[in-house]
Amino acid sequence: MMKRIAVLASGRGSNFQAVIDAITEKNIPARCTALITDNPNAYAIGRAKKAGIPVVVVDYSSFPSREVYERALLSAMQQQEADLFVLAGYMRILGKIIVQAFPGKMVNIHPALLPSFTGLHAQRQALEYGVKIAGCTVHFVDEHLDCGPIILQRCVPVLESDDEEALAERILIQEHIAFPDAIRLFCEDRLEIVGRNVRIRW
Ligand code: GRF
Repeated sequence: MMKRIAVLASGRGSNFQAVIDAITEKNIPARCTALITDNPNAYAIGRAKKAGIPVVVVDYSSFPSREVYERALLSAMQQQEADLFVLAGYMRILGKIIVQAFPGKMVNIHPALLPSFTGLHAQRQALEYGVKIAGCTVHFVDEHLDCGPIILQRCVPVLESDDEEALAERILIQEHIAFPDAIRLFCEDRLEIVGRNVRIRW
């Protein structure tokens, strides 16, 4: 059965685009039911429209409090009846209520080899720390930031000539491979969460 996936993104949406392309090329057996965004100016919105994907804007700044915003977001998510929620550069931390509403049904991509360098500016953190290998991680989302069970990781070298932008670009190329790959595995029912571990049926 074709899975239903909904994507949450706040900005550029290049990972969202990689997912759209993988669906179009039939590498992911899924239908994207919606782009949900907290940012009415997100570049990702144009990508959704071009691909004929409905856009749902839950504009954070139009709500009186975080609680009210999260209730609206939760209801927008529930309406999707999605098998999987894909966080593709969604720049807000999702509260417990949302995370707990979709256990094992939400994945995120982070531009670092977790558990190193959680949170914002992961590539800058890696450069400042002086690691020689960096990369990206696709993981299930739990209540803690950048912490859930890891599905896939891909690595890149850190070069002495790198600045934040150069490293981010090298990692991004790997993100665009890892994210569709992980989503495909999920949609093919090949992922099993066992404690902190994700078993992949090959
Ligand atoms: C990516 O680096 C992703 O790892 C992080 O946010 C960035 C989003 O980029 N979570 P884009 O919007 O997918 O281009």
